[in-house]
Amino acid sequence: MAALGLKAPDHRESLRVQLIGESAAGLAEIKTVLGAISEPRLDVVEMSPQAAADETAMADIAMVVFDGNEAGPLGYLQARAERVPRPIIFALLQDRSPVLMRRVLHEGADELLFLPLQGADLARALMKLSERRRRAERLEGGLIYGFASIVGGVGVSTLSANLALVMRYVFGKRAAVVDLDLQNGGLNVILHLTPDQTIASLIEFTAKLDSIKLEAALTKHPSGIYLLAAPKRLEDAERVTDLTVATVLDLMRQLFDFVIVDCGSHVNEITVAAWERCDELLYVIDHSRIATHGARRFGELFGRLGLRLDEPRFVLNKFDPQSAMTEAVIAQSMGVGCFAKVPREDRTIEKMQLRAQDLWQLAPNSALARAIEALARRINERREPLPEASDGLVARLFSVFGARA
Ligand SMILES: Nc1ncnc2c1ncn2[C@@H]1O[C@H](COP(=O)(O)OP(=O)(O)O)[C@@H](O)[C@H]1O
Ligand SMILES: [Mg+2]
Repeated sequence: MAALGLKAPDHRESLRVQLIGESAAGLAEIKTVLGAISEPRLDVVEMSPQAAADETAMADIAMVVFDGNEAGPLGYLQARAERVPRPIIFALLQDRSPVLMRRVLHEGADELLFLPLQGADLARALMKLSERRRRAERLEGGLIYGFASIVGGVGVSTLSANLALVMRYVFGKRAAVVDLDLQNGGLNVILHLTPDQTIASLIEFTAKLDSIKLEAALTKHPSGIYLLAAPKRLEDAERVTDLTVATVLDLMRQLFDFVIVDCGSHVNEITVAAWERCDELLYVIDHSRIATHGARRFGELFGRLGLRLDEPRFVLNKFDPQSAMTEAVIAQSMGVGCFAKVPREDRTIEKMQLRAQDLWQLAPNSALARAIEALARRINERREPLPEASDGLVARLFSVFGARA
């Protein structure tokens, strides 16, 4: 928990800028121009090309100054080109020669500006790029949904796995599920998989992770979804850092339409790094007092963290209409109502475990499967709504046979 206090909330109101160059006087002059820009707000850090190439913290924008010696700044561009994700790169050129301009663009600069830097040129370029990036994120990036609880056994892993499955089976989306319950690794069991590779394989690559390395660490499920499993060896769980998790999720968003994260029942720097990247966080409860009490405490903690993410929404799992702890009692005890509920179906879950089948292979028309489908629609409502499956049964049969083929 101590680590939480160290993490600065990422409000994303200001853009993180690395100002990269070798001459202190040159940088100071540019910094003055940057200082006069009020919209968007800029957080500027100065560094040498070498330090910037080694830096693992991700900036939004890198401004690389070419004011004489070109080897250093070109070296930075080359080092950056090999990494995903990378910042938007502005090259600031003293020399307006077409040869240099072409070279710099070829090495990966996104925008050229000339020295001495004019405030108006810079403001226009900033606006253009942030707009272009926002549009690209909307088009290219998938959505990340997290499930969490601070109480174990309520169904975080069950819902994570099944939300990924429904995205694939019913909606035909590319989906993946990430097991961040690192010491537990329950998703392997729920999905009946025995992964060769896990998130532990990615620890050493954090700074240079790319989609090929990431894909090699994933395990494919017969349905077509992918699992990024928790480490096999318990001691490897300790080696996974918030930086690994942040890098992995940023990259997974680019590979999948939906990334579902099982955040387990811990609160630490790793889960906070995941929540920061989630488009939506779902907090799972059941009919127990301990779960609703936990939900209230979690809500309070969440408020203190000040994340960019909206408040978590609460899913009542193992819903039993006969329970004396009714929805109204639960809502009163949490101080907020439930967003969705998923029925308790012990028999279906038992059969799935015995036969090593998933819910859509075993019981695609069960109340449980329908509730997960409804949950998927609800979550997506305020984003890109999922299509209505008018031919529900046919779509289901097709997806089951399609997945087996
Ligand atoms: N809707 C449900 N109906 C019946 N049993 C459930 C349901 N959801 C989860 N379970 C069972 O509850 C237990 C805990 O679920 P799990 O997903 O592992 O919880 P968590 O990840 O929160 O610890 C498992 O045995 C699971 O099969
Ligand atoms: Mg679990």
